[in-house]
Amino acid sequence: MRRRRTDVGGGSTPSAKATATEPRTGPLTRAVARQWVAAWDRQQALYIPERERRFSVMFDAIESYLPPSFVALDVGCGPGSLSQRLLARFPQARVVALDLDPVLMQLGRRAQLVDPARTRWVESDLRDPNWTRALPEERFDAILSTTALHWLSPKDLARTYRVLHDLLRPRGLFLNGDSYPYGKGRPIFRHIACATAQRWQYQRVREGDMDWGAWWAKLEQREDLRALFELRRRRFPKGEHHETTATVDEQESMLRAAGFLEPTIVWRDFSNGVMMAVRGDGRGTRSKRRAGPPK
Ligand SMILES: C[S@@+](CC[C@H](N)C(=O)[O-])C[C@H]1O[C@@H](n2cnc3c(N)ncnc32)[C@H](O)[C@@H]1O
Repeated sequence: MRRRRTDVGGGSTPSAKATATEPRTGPLTRAVARQWVAAWDRQQALYIPERERRFSVMFDAIESYLPPSFVALDVGCGPGSLSQRLLARFPQARVVALDLDPVLMQLGRRAQLVDPARTRWVESDLRDPNWTRALPEERFDAILSTTALHWLSPKDLARTYRVLHDLLRPRGLFLNGDSYPYGKGRPIFRHIACATAQRWQYQRVREGDMDWGAWWAKLEQREDLRALFELRRRRFPKGEHHETTATVDEQESMLRAAGFLEPTIVWRDFSNGVMMAVRGDGRGTRSKRRAGPPK
């Protein structure tokens, strides 16, 4: 269930050159933090070429299903890329943005790209069985995540799906934009997906984009983030994330076992996809729950 870090969140690409698009040095003002988040978005697009489309597919589903005013949870929010876009598209929505990384959250808070009045930032570790205690809301209309849940081990992921299911209101929507690699039974598709991802990454880095390693190395040079980087190292002591590589079928089974209805890949670009699932109406057994749009 492990794979090479080539198509999501990091990877081995030729070393990035310094470019005119690098964030400025100087105090971490709102403008500088915004540059860092913009550089984060470009760096993430190195691994997810259709990242913006992936966001909009998730929001299209929400628009078709939820009323305009809703509360969402962004799981593994990083600097708030998903939350920011969600609040821009849904002016009556509120979001709880949860992550464990103090550095990324500091960038997100400082950048204020997301409306502070409609955003609650929460630092919590999804691997902690009591992580939901940190949440300011008991239930959510939608739970979303991008490029984050593959960091969890299969065991933690299965438990997290159960917790997320129970955090949703009846008929609430779960949307996860993440890596869904082709299984061992599809070696040629795996090869094609990997080669396509690598070609895209090499091209972007050759054109001057920072990759995951270059972005972090550059940010770590900032003196004013030194304490937060130390905290980050304590929270992620191994430095690397786990990389769960459950296939679509395996993920769907995990979601069903957690109580979700209709887990389905609704969009896909090679190994990147959007999985959608819904919580039943709360009546009946886990297997017999019914779904339908919220009233
Ligand atoms: C590649 S980043 C994606 C961030 C953001 N969702 C995006 O799409 O730009 C993965 C995020 O998952 C977060 N994460 C990983 N493991 C976590 C855990 N156990 N608890 C909370 N957040 C976690 C990381 O800190 C990181 O911010």
